[in-house]
Amino acid sequence: MQDHHNFLEEILIPSEELQERIAELGEEINQDYFGKNLHLVCILRGGVLFLADLMRHITLPHTIDFMAVSSYGTGARQSTGQVRITLDLKEDIHERDVLLVEDIVDSGFTIASILELLATRHPRSLQVCTLLDKAERREIDVPIHYRGFVIPNKFVFGYGLDLDEYYRNLPFIGTVNPQKYQPPD
Ligand code: IMP
Ligand code: MG
Repeated sequence: MQDHHNFLEEILIPSEELQERIAELGEEINQDYFGKNLHLVCILRGGVLFLADLMRHITLPHTIDFMAVSSYGTGARQSTGQVRITLDLKEDIHERDVLLVEDIVDSGFTIASILELLATRHPRSLQVCTLLDKAERREIDVPIHYRGFVIPNKFVFGYGLDLDEYYRNLPFIGTVNPQKYQPPD
């Protein structure tokens, strides 16, 4: 596996900036969800680092759960518009104030399908918190209640986001130099 220094084009969001913004989002959530039945639903796998850091700033009592989805079709870096649940929630969300915790909203198809599906389970409320918003790429209108950063239309990795499943551990968000990146065989 290549060392990320070989293909890192630029550090788009350094670790300290991520952490500062995540603390602010936690504060907003603390205010908005006071007295509610907050249930954080992390979308695997990209959302794990964000969830872990965000929940440390949430001082309200809350619960967490996980779900995973995958786009139909190949491993192309493009959503196809339809998603399939590969791991469903463990718990019922009826009467809960569900906040989806996502790494990035790109075309919007993934979050739109998840919202549609979870709405049929009648949560008390259902909102979206995404760390990154690649707004220029939106193909379907989705409500985003909390967003960390709007980013340009570039493929990014690190802090939960993968490049062919690797590099999720890096503490910053970086952009890829496609000429220098070699996918694993
Ligand atoms: P959407 O359905 O097009 O909004 O895509 C959302 C999913 O695509 C995210 O949950 C990510 O897993 C993945 N994704 C989109 N853009 C990037 C990127 O720049 N880096 C890594 N993953 C990405
Ligand atoms: Mg991914």
